[in-house]
Amino acid sequence: MENSNNHPVVVTIEGDGIGPEVMPWTVAAVDAAVKAAYGTERSIKWQEALAGKLAMERTGSPLPTETVDAIREHGLALKGPVETPVGGGIRSVNVALRKALDLYACIRPVRYFEGVTAPVKHPENLDVVIFRENIEDVYAGIEWHEGTPEARKVIRFLQEEMGFDVREDSGIGVKPMSVFGSKRLVARAIQYAAENGRSSVTLVHKGNIMKFTEGAFRDWGYEVANECFPGQTVRESELKKGETITPGKVLMNDRIADNMFQEILLHPERYEVLALPNLDGDYMSDAAAAQVGGIGIAPGANIGDHGAVFEATHGTAPDIAGQGKANPCSLMLSATMMLRHMGWTEAGDRIESAIERLLASGRMTIDLASAAGSSNALTTGEFGKAVVGEVS
Ligand code: NAI
Repeated sequence: MENSNNHPVVVTIEGDGIGPEVMPWTVAAVDAAVKAAYGTERSIKWQEALAGKLAMERTGSPLPTETVDAIREHGLALKGPVETPVGGGIRSVNVALRKALDLYACIRPVRYFEGVTAPVKHPENLDVVIFRENIEDVYAGIEWHEGTPEARKVIRFLQEEMGFDVREDSGIGVKPMSVFGSKRLVARAIQYAAENGRSSVTLVHKGNIMKFTEGAFRDWGYEVANECFPGQTVRESELKKGETITPGKVLMNDRIADNMFQEILLHPERYEVLALPNLDGDYMSDAAAAQVGGIGIAPGANIGDHGAVFEATHGTAPDIAGQGKANPCSLMLSATMMLRHMGWTEAGDRIESAIERLLASGRMTIDLASAAGSSNALTTGEFGKAVVGEVS
């Protein structure tokens, strides 16, 4: 999205735990990168908003209406990790925010950074962008505890009217996946691949078992490729043996989820963009991030047609909060995604290459340093300052 406004408002949600440690350095890095790239031509006006435990303490709600309204109004937010307080009336602040703003695509680019210790021999072979459906599937929140009148009612319906044999002592969950929800996610993944020179989109699903939800996700994915990207996409099954696609086109293929978990380890170089239903996408995002050595550095974005929230993928890390040990890379790289989404690519590139240089030269926070067997760790502040210095 090209942002015509050179001085846009971006809503920040600092969040809980290590959020207040990593957010100020991320804001400082973005301001420095924007200044270095565009001088005074462009700048961001930051507007703070509350969510999570702090919001609950200050306003009595874990997700105040003003926060949702501010993001809806300005369209862009940068978010730290939040704790969902007990008694706030919602199961998860993050899920509630995604639903309120219809942020249907969770996007996670996963790549290796030199200097980071990874559990595989060639982590650099993995460079994928994961598009996870963010609203539907078993995350829709339609479930009933075992033994409740609601669970019993659904079980009776399944037994008496649908002829299924369901044990009386079952908990029940529902897995809705729609044509609309699946197609708009896959369309976004194809659009991204076409615009960013990525040559394939892989539909990942468990359709061999769940035929009318996950299997349908695959079918609808192929359908939307035909309907919305005719001539631009080629189905793998249409290629002759040994034939490759014309440069500029996007290859569409699909893999069953369990096979895909092997593929990403054995042949990571074969995959570029993955499109997945919600639960498969949740597992795959963390597995892929772990493969390159860093859930702590993996960035993420939740994007809809009318707003986008860029957020660190880790949690509030209560075990290290307030100790200067937090790694700000995940939030900084999420901010990089935001700058690129705004069309401010040069500023985004500056932050990513600053992080690349620092990690490659062994300058890192303790989480990465201890994995690398180094006793030379930087504090959050020292690392943040180094990024600001590098981007300027
Ligand atoms: P977590 O990601 O907070 O922590 C897992 C481990 O990773 C901990 O050892 C932590 O110290 C470490 N870690 C995480 N981020 C780090 C960073 N930036 N630098 C260095 N080390 C880091 O996950 P956990 O413990 O499962 O969740 C803690 C809280 O965070 C819970 O309340 C959970 O609900 C919330 N959470 C919030 C998320 C969000 O707002 N997007 C996402 C995940 C969890």
